[in-house]
Amino acid sequence: MGALAPNEAMARRALELVPQGARLGLGSGRAAQAFVRVLGERVREGLQVRCVPTSRATEALAAREGVPLATLEELGELDLAVDGADEVSPALDLVKGYGGALVREKIVAAASRRLVILAQPAKQVAALGARGVLPVEVVAFGWSYCARRLAELGLRPARRLAGEAPFVSDGGNHVLDCAVSPIADPADLERSLAAIPGVVGTGLFLGLASVVFLEDERGEVTVLH
Ligand code: A5P
Repeated sequence: MGALAPNEAMARRALELVPQGARLGLGSGRAAQAFVRVLGERVREGLQVRCVPTSRATEALAAREGVPLATLEELGELDLAVDGADEVSPALDLVKGYGGALVREKIVAAASRRLVILAQPAKQVAALGARGVLPVEVVAFGWSYCARRLAELGLRPARRLAGEAPFVSDGGNHVLDCAVSPIADPADLERSLAAIPGVVGTGLFLGLASVVFLEDERGEVTVLH
């Protein structure tokens, strides 16, 4: 067997948690896509799963890999979701959404009995916000109102761009990337953000992750519970 691809070692560890017949959530980003690739391999060997993708990009990859896809409406509760993260705190709280799929990712994570996170050690932070960005997804109508309210909370929002045009999420929304310092009380901030009309969801994933696999550049995997 040749050298493992980046993220493959931890993706294979996550695959060990997938039982026959599992209903899975498939995250977005490079680490989650590494999981979709090894899952596809196992599906071609006979593993039966049904999966809800959290982005069009993951959906397309899963389809190419022959991974059976379904909707949350068809599956109801999921057994396991596997996703990446942008920050991981000591309590396994997360910041996600640098890739722009945060709302679908959070719905799928919340609908899953377990959320398994795959990340690099550099994503570990002492406090959420340490990498300086908190993505917040807002409806396109009135996005500037949301930006003003976020600024009143001490965040410094900038509308994410894709080239020269505003970035549009798979759900048709905009993303405000908020410049932040380490966040003293993430749960309190989450409540304040969720109360703003037009905010669809934030990149704060609190109390959702059950296990985190960290893979370093040598392919060594550390497990955090
Ligand atoms: C997508 O919206 C994000 O939440 C990703 O899960 C996150 O950005 C991690 O992506 P990578 O695995 O590509 O670093």
